Amino acid sequence: MSPIKVGLLGFGVVGGGTWKVLTQNADEIARRAGCHIEVVAVAVRDLEKARGLLGDDIAISTDGMDVVNHPDIDIVVELVGGETLAKDWIMQAIAQGKHVVTANKALLALHGNEIFAAAHDKGVMVAFEAAVAGGIPIVKSIREGLTANRIEWVAGIINGTTNFILSEMRSHGVSFAEALADAQRLGYAEADPTFDIEGVDAAHKLTLLSSLAFGVPVQFDAAHIEGITTLAAEDISHAERLGYTVKLLGITRRRSDGIELRVHPTLVPAESLLANVQGAMNAVMVHGDAVGSTVYYGAGAGELPTASAVVADLVDVARLLTADHVHRVPYLAFQQNAMADTPILPMSEVLSSYYLRLRVEDRPGVLADVSRILAQAHISIGSMFQEPANDGEADIIFLTHEAREGSIDLAIEQIQRLEFVRSKLTRLRVENLG
Ligand code: NDP
Ligand code: HSE
Repeated sequence: MSPIKVGLLGFGVVGGGTWKVLTQNADEIARRAGCHIEVVAVAVRDLEKARGLLGDDIAISTDGMDVVNHPDIDIVVELVGGETLAKDWIMQAIAQGKHVVTANKALLALHGNEIFAAAHDKGVMVAFEAAVAGGIPIVKSIREGLTANRIEWVAGIINGTTNFILSEMRSHGVSFAEALADAQRLGYAEADPTFDIEGVDAAHKLTLLSSLAFGVPVQFDAAHIEGITTLAAEDISHAERLGYTVKLLGITRRRSDGIELRVHPTLVPAESLLANVQGAMNAVMVHGDAVGSTVYYGAGAGELPTASAVVADLVDVARLLTADHVHRVPYLAFQQNAMADTPILPMSEVLSSYYLRLRVEDRPGVLADVSRILAQAHISIGSMFQEPANDGEADIIFLTHEAREGSIDLAIEQIQRLEFVRSKLTRLRVENLG
């Protein structure tokens, strides 16, 4: 079979890594794909830098459309990021009947429904393994490996940058700013790192995982998102005292009344697998009714791990080029005409256990008043302890049993109004993932 011709949009961390993997493993990849995969054109901003790295045999342009419209190209690989140019290029590639591989979770979380519909109409593939959890083949695992299951929930550490920051701060006493700068230097962070630290990148990925797991359209706007910027060091150490580790988790769960879709710092049992995922590693747990709980672990970001996922998609597309498109694996695991309209639940309907910390005046009756409000809201206390704070003040820490988020909201509002409460109450969610 003659080589498959590929155009790369972007030659940064992931684009450069993709080139490296395609070059260093060319023969092994050809043995798997059934043909060689050849990069014939690349788009970048800085022509000189790219020319120095790629040599003279490859067409290089600063206009992505030149690559998309290149007559020899079979597959367009989008590794630039963002939602504007990247969307125009992908839609143009699809319009021309070209297959697309992308690592762009932001684009798919926001415009995936439109992109997949257009691709379906044109009978082309849009493959996106690298968009979720870097090098871990989680998209393929859910879409194909677990296809027999009714999936009940998916939960995981799906942002390498934040996990790296939390690990560096906890294990090496590095400051938040230093850890973030290291994550950027190592190529883990997004072009705009607020996407990482505010939980947006994890929510982009979770949106895709939720669609793959439950066969619903992508609905990023319905996701509840909290990042790690407001996480206090004292809450991390109180959590440890209670036997938990704090991780930024993405959680999506199917319930009879809808789907939970949420990203937030979460207390997980210290002995659990997720608690022990360090650095830029990711781990995703998927619970299916037939298989039970499964866990997928590996590098969640960075040059070669992400390239591994991009190249896996290229090989998949190469293998499927001769297959009639209606017999290919569906983009979001479920057939395009069999998507469900199950609603995403508002955060107030989410069920979770909670960690609550409040700074109070240290005097008799305080605990009784707080406990009364929790009891009236039907929130049962699992454990509590008190820590002395400033002069005459104390921190009270509660772990609750499972409760409705709306009930917790109401109780927090009332507790916050008590005259002896000295600071904003901290609320973190607790998941035992059992
Ligand atoms: P980089 O910033 O390292 O690379 C971006 C590339 O796009 C650069 O080559 C840049 O050109 C090029 N580029 C930017 N704007 C334009 C433009 N207007 N026209 C042409 N080329 C342009 O990003 P990453 O490689 O880190 O990320 C790429 C994508 O992969 C993003 O969607 C990201 O979310 C996703 N991703 C990243 C991972 C990671 O670990 N880094 C992991 C998983 C997904 P130049 O080189 O000239 O600056
Ligand atoms: N910025 C992302 C992360 C890259 O840190 O996980 C991988 O998607």
